[in-house]
Amino acid sequence: MRQIMKITGPCRLSGTVRISGSKNASAAIIPATILAKGECILENLPDNNDTEAMLDTLRYLGASVTKLESSRVSIDTSTIDRCDPPDRLMSIMRASYYFVPVLLGTKGKAEVAMPGGCNIGPRPIDQTLKGLRLLGANVYVDDVTGKIMGSCDHLTGADVYFDIPSVGATANTMMAAVMASGRTTLHNAAKEPHIVDLANFLCAMGARVLGAGTDIIRITGGRPMHGTSYAIIPDQIETGTYMIAAAATQGDVTIEGVIPLHMEALTAKLLEMGVSVTTKDDTIHISSGRSLRPVEVKTQVYPGFPTDLQQPLTALLTMANGTSSVYEQIFENRFRFTAELNKMGADITVSENNRIAKVNGVEALHAADIMATDLRAGAAMVIAGLMAQGTTRIDGCHYILRGYERMDEKLRALNADIECITTED
Ligand code: EPU
Repeated sequence: MRQIMKITGPCRLSGTVRISGSKNASAAIIPATILAKGECILENLPDNNDTEAMLDTLRYLGASVTKLESSRVSIDTSTIDRCDPPDRLMSIMRASYYFVPVLLGTKGKAEVAMPGGCNIGPRPIDQTLKGLRLLGANVYVDDVTGKIMGSCDHLTGADVYFDIPSVGATANTMMAAVMASGRTTLHNAAKEPHIVDLANFLCAMGARVLGAGTDIIRITGGRPMHGTSYAIIPDQIETGTYMIAAAATQGDVTIEGVIPLHMEALTAKLLEMGVSVTTKDDTIHISSGRSLRPVEVKTQVYPGFPTDLQQPLTALLTMANGTSSVYEQIFENRFRFTAELNKMGADITVSENNRIAKVNGVEALHAADIMATDLRAGAAMVIAGLMAQGTTRIDGCHYILRGYERMDEKLRALNADIECITTED
């Protein structure tokens, strides 16, 4: 079965859209419920395929998971009796390796297939292995099975210096450290909003985590962890995707249920281009005209410009008034989608090392049959489809539905002519 997104453009987005809970925060918080003794109620969970896979993994391990509403779930992990999440679910998500520290910390053992996720360049796990080993775990990648194998008698707090500020390594080591006896200090930690959200969730369960959101996180481990109710933060990247889509379609859109502070790097870039961005409490309003200035953008760790919005922004830049430069500094292979946008009349040239894209603005894009190469590439193609003349068909929509809740429905409510079609072949 294939899912194809069909978009007829150009269209002008208008109206109000509500943002769902953060995919990447949920991806860490769902496994972290394993640390609690007692029931956790998670609210504002996004309804997407990655979240479903995470919940299915908990069920497979023996947890009781009950959907109270589409975005509200009750989880009781006290009945978990396995340490080996299913390979089929692990290999489709990057976040699957978040099961390693929580199983190690509660069961003393973990056997987890290497994480999958978007193909955007090499995604090593050396910093996670380093963090867990410093806390006393015996953890390695098995040459034969390719699985991450871990065991420990108990974990002990330590000083951990990350070579790079990795989201995954920070989350993994933080989850192990709350179960370790004594103090752990994470140096050069990632500062992304979903790291702060995970830390807040761990504290709501009884952990002591200080400094999340800065590059030094201090954890006092070994405290009892209990069930809790917790609402997940809004998705920073979904918010940004709708901000860019509104700007790209000369739209007039109010985006509700967001944290404007998380959006500052994108807001600054859109203002630089000449887009009107106004924020009030938990809403952002975007309105935009035809003529947009070209910009230079470099992806960076938070609070810099997020790599996950690089692809949607590049789609917007295809129709700016001049030449823009986009530097991808986080992942090695995040420009593959530009070949698909060029099929729609865009003029993008990528440097030999795949790190810099020169985007020459064109007058108009035209429809084409294209293929989503990963999640955010898919979002960029949807934006291009909204801008283009004619009917664009985007194959590989399972990538988009992994991370965006009901994107077709939300865009239809903003006046887009878009539908998601499932075909048999
Ligand atoms: N890196 C290493 N060693 C490590 C870990 C990472 O060298 O042990 C490198 C990576 O190769 C990459 C950089 O560090 O060049 C950043 O990787 P990071 O670990 O921060 O990313 P991640 O945890 O694999 C998360 C998000 C990504 C997002 C990045 C960067 C989740 C599930 N995924 O990935 O989200 O792009 O942080 O912000 O949280 C997406 O949502 O589309 C997505 C790809």
